[in-house]
Amino acid sequence: MTDGNRPDGPPDEPAELLELAIRLARQAGALALRRREHGLSVATKSSATDVVTDADRAVEELLRAELAEHRPADAVLGEEGGAAGPADSRVRWLVDPIDGTVNFLLGLPQYAVSIAAQIDGVTVAGCVHNPVSGELFSASRGGGAYLAGRQLTGPRLVPLAEAVLATGFGYDQQLRARQAQLAARVLARVGNLRRLGSAALDLCFLAAGRLDLYYEGPLGEWDYAAGLLIVQESGAATSGLAGRPAGGQMVAAAHPELAGEFFALLEELGADDLSA
Ligand code: IPD
Ligand code: CA
Ligand code: CA
Repeated sequence: MTDGNRPDGPPDEPAELLELAIRLARQAGALALRRREHGLSVATKSSATDVVTDADRAVEELLRAELAEHRPADAVLGEEGGAAGPADSRVRWLVDPIDGTVNFLLGLPQYAVSIAAQIDGVTVAGCVHNPVSGELFSASRGGGAYLAGRQLTGPRLVPLAEAVLATGFGYDQQLRARQAQLAARVLARVGNLRRLGSAALDLCFLAAGRLDLYYEGPLGEWDYAAGLLIVQESGAATSGLAGRPAGGQMVAAAHPELAGEFFALLEELGADDLSA
């Protein structure tokens, strides 16, 4: 029995948690695809552009029901249903049933189920699955990041002025205006910009070398927990800027040899706090 184990349940090994996360992500992805075929009903949350579909809620309910069955003593934080489970649980799951809901709603093929597991607040397993492409990115802490059995080795090392950056924009209009001003200034200093619509997949794409740079803030824990572990395990450097680790205020990532210059640029342009 390791330190993370509970006396009355299965062991809290990262590999076990990852195996469950992968199984649940596939089940959840299949449900998202099925629900989309039958038509979606849409509601709004924090703003008119912050949409949620009945499929987002159904997928999260499936994940919560499966976690309650397989891991009854664990805590869960999900985007749609909030926090549940014992506050003193050592294991906590972070789930975003559909990351990239706007893409999902529009029929754009860039969205994913994101599931992470933490032990004592440290993310030890993460899985991001796009049910349209079938791709499943995964990582366990210290065990590397993988896509379809292939180990991921992180972003390219290219000069900052040639690097392709991904970022995202939030649902609050004033926040989005600040994010857009920052993005315009960053864009003038890098090679080009993509806005793909799923923070979880952006981070996985960096891990897979399909993007060179990423930053976004603020984000929910469910948006970045799994993708952050995957990009870190691919060998990329990550930061929350201003001496902080990557977190809800800011997640920035790059090749380790480009990271110093990129993170300094973001700090110079005031990216470390876009909250007001
Ligand atoms: C959003 C996506 C998007 C990012 C937003 C997130 P959602 O998550 O990850 O790429 O820019 O900040 O809120 O709402 O589609 O789950
Ligand atoms: Ca999300
Ligand atoms: Ca979501």
